[in-house]
Amino acid sequence: MKLAVLKERRAGETRVAASPDTVKKLKGLGLDVAVETGAGEGAHFSDADFTAAGAAIAPDAPSAVGGADIVFGVRTPEPATIGQMKKGAVLAALLAPYTDKETPAKLAAQGVNAFAMEFLPRISRAQAMDVLSSQANLAGYKAVIDAAALFDRAMPMMMTAAGTIAPARVLVMGVGVAGLQAIATARRLGAIVSATDVRPATKEQVESLGATFVAVMDEEFKNAQTAAGYAKPMSADYQARQAALIAETIRKQDIVITTALIPGRAAPVLVSEEMVRTMKPGSVIVDLAAEQGGNCPLTRADQTVVAHGVTIIGPTNLAGQLPVDASSLYARNLFNFVSLIVDKKTGALKLDWNDDILKGAGLTRDGQVVHPALKG
Ligand code: NAI
Repeated sequence: MKLAVLKERRAGETRVAASPDTVKKLKGLGLDVAVETGAGEGAHFSDADFTAAGAAIAPDAPSAVGGADIVFGVRTPEPATIGQMKKGAVLAALLAPYTDKETPAKLAAQGVNAFAMEFLPRISRAQAMDVLSSQANLAGYKAVIDAAALFDRAMPMMMTAAGTIAPARVLVMGVGVAGLQAIATARRLGAIVSATDVRPATKEQVESLGATFVAVMDEEFKNAQTAAGYAKPMSADYQARQAALIAETIRKQDIVITTALIPGRAAPVLVSEEMVRTMKPGSVIVDLAAEQGGNCPLTRADQTVVAHGVTIIGPTNLAGQLPVDASSLYARNLFNFVSLIVDKKTGALKLDWNDDILKGAGLTRDGQVVHPALKG
């Protein structure tokens, strides 16, 4: 069976869906691997590295996907590339299923069985395939590094002969995977860190990282987590009380990292313009929810905004700014996913549609769009 690895074409996408390490592992599953030329450039994996690992180099996308039974991408392939995919082929990529409403129908019409890595269920068996976690973890780290670089003071407390420098105060809003890594990174840099979330399970996690938990802890808070582990949209009343508490906290912060998301919805507004106005000049906000509209209304995706003396950035692909690590982890995630659908004995595709992982991530099957979230 042939597996194709595509070169990414979206502006600013530095990542690649396989690494020389995973090519070796894919060969170990009995697959022939074709890597489109230049696919690894952004992550410093050369064609020669891939060849040495056992891949064939394809001169362009059509020759990579031609005859391929499995296609790997980071993002949705170009429409022309989808049009060249074989009927019955499997596609594994980040397909932005909540926002890209057109591609699933194209994939179904082509007879491609497409799996959106964003929809992998958050169950322990799927942890090694969890692309959202591997990438969010890097994004949380990089958010703090970028904030520290933009901040015009030092992060740790420093006692010098010339006097003492006070440590920076960092608030992390939204304590999922990215938020937890942001807390840990800010702590390592010596900041005084506090954090907030609407899911009660996060309180202990925040405290175990040496940060202070700040939240309105009422009955609604106790029930704010869905069975899938995600946050529920909160009531207007809760949001008003949360805003009052945050307004009080945020004035004292130097750096605010926001990561609050609710799957399939616009990001909740947590930092209003009024709150930004109360922050000290020179403070920094990194809004990781920018792609979903942002947690601050002043955020502009992938732009730097200076408002009321506060620098606000809204990077939409922070993991992509660490392309080597991001690609290596993403490639491992996809390898682990593919191990599930390739029969170890025969080396053929084996799609068990009763498996929760395939059911959760599968957008299209046998010419139909099948995912419940896409069927209105
Ligand atoms: P996410 O990226 O969907 O959201 C980030 C954070 O924002 C979440 O913690 C969410 O509770 C928070 N949030 C939403 N609305 C908010 C508001 N109004 N105010 C403050 N915070 C708000 O989250 P992520 O990182 O994808 O994690 C989601 C869940 O999945 C978590 O429970 C996490 O522990 C779980 N998980 C489970 C894994 C597993 O394999 N078992 C692997 C990775 C994550």
